[in-house]
Amino acid sequence: MTKVITYGTYDQLHFGHIRLLERAKELGDYLIVGVTADDFDRTRGKINVSQPLEERIAAVRATGLADEIVVEEYEGQKIDDIRRFDVDIFTVGSDWVGYFDYLNEYCKVVYLDRTQGVSSTELRSEQARLNLGVVGSKNTLLKFIAESKFVNGVNIEHACTMQEKLDDSSISEYDYTEEAYLEMLSKVDAVYISSSPESHYTQTKLALEKGKHVFCEAPIALSAEQSKELFEIAKNNNVVLMESIKTAYVNAYSRLLLLIKSGKIGDVVSVDATCTSIRDITGVSSSELGHRWNSICGWGPTAMLPVFQILGTNYTHKNIISKFADEDKTYDIFTKIDFEYPNAVATVKVGNGIKSEGELIISGTKGYLYVPAPWWKTDYFEIRFENPANNKRYFYQLDGEGIRYEIVAFAKAVFEGKTNNFYLENHITECISSVIEDFYAKKDTTEI
Ligand code: CTP
Repeated sequence: MTKVITYGTYDQLHFGHIRLLERAKELGDYLIVGVTADDFDRTRGKINVSQPLEERIAAVRATGLADEIVVEEYEGQKIDDIRRFDVDIFTVGSDWVGYFDYLNEYCKVVYLDRTQGVSSTELRSEQARLNLGVVGSKNTLLKFIAESKFVNGVNIEHACTMQEKLDDSSISEYDYTEEAYLEMLSKVDAVYISSSPESHYTQTKLALEKGKHVFCEAPIALSAEQSKELFEIAKNNNVVLMESIKTAYVNAYSRLLLLIKSGKIGDVVSVDATCTSIRDITGVSSSELGHRWNSICGWGPTAMLPVFQILGTNYTHKNIISKFADEDKTYDIFTKIDFEYPNAVATVKVGNGIKSEGELIISGTKGYLYVPAPWWKTDYFEIRFENPANNKRYFYQLDGEGIRYEIVAFAKAVFEGKTNNFYLENHITECISSVIEDFYAKKDTTEI
């Protein structure tokens, strides 16, 4: 009996897949089909797969062509499978020519002609098209636009730029005025906002009221009331409002939360998060500093994220200690916030003007979780115990600082009409805004 094996993602199973499976089957008597696990696809940078593993397996099974289906979960598994199943022929489409020649050592390798004119990528892009406008400063937007190219179905053709123009002929640019912004809104389905913290609320509100989906950098508003209002408007107008904190959408970070919630380090008693960067503000006038991203707005949301996601938002006390660079006391070069909970504490240290070790430490009754700097864009963390022999290290794939993953999450929410964001729940956003509100209102604050 000749055994044949082939692998693929088989997202939105199409004619090209079926033709390949038919010809693979004809190569022998028994066909094994390997379907990639969701995690494995992410590791290989395939971030747009639209169907979960179970659905993709069911579709392959429904073709009636596979005698056996296996799940491909790790790099190098093909060799294991070929040996395990005593496979005679490995086959894939001609888009992989040469790539799998190393398997010739274990069995015969056959590349079959790829069917022209159809692919899962094209299907995904055709079905879902999100015309996304962007507003903000040049550097941030350029990075965001470059990352959006990894996300199927998201097109950016309109930008409202704050100072410098993008100088990209494929993008129509608008001035940074309310009138021009409204004109841009009329041309798009959704908008990404990364302007300045004091403008986020107004720009988000204008967009939501026009029925546009909004993806806004944190903080989306400078008060809890305003955040709440924005979510209300989004709900009433049936559009998606998502706050952008890259870390929330990073694989390693979501896994870390799951491990903590499943009790791996016991009861959490302390969360310590530090995020800092050096900013040269010499010679910048006091009034101009007031419009810069200070520490509380620039880093505060990211640093508060694990605190509120792990310990919740019902803290009993907090104390905000800041060091300011301007007379108006709006530009904090450093802020430390202590939170007290009935059974735990947390400390957040943020700085746009000082430097410290950007690590995250979550301490529990059985052990602690350590994420080395820069923890907010991590692909790695450790769980450490009293007995180092029990320590565990976790590695994940991280591409593009996490920006492409959050764009995928936003696009998915829009395409699937999902209004609740499980990566970053509304009450977490509202709580972050309320701390920033207290910072500006000088409530629970101390100055050094
Ligand atoms: N395949 C094919 N003809 C096509 C598309 C895919 O022969 N038009 C083959 C691939 O070469 C591979 C198998 O089908 O052997 C599974 O491919 P997969 O990567 O799942 O499908 P794609 O449509 O290529 O997916 P994507 O666009 O996401 O890369």
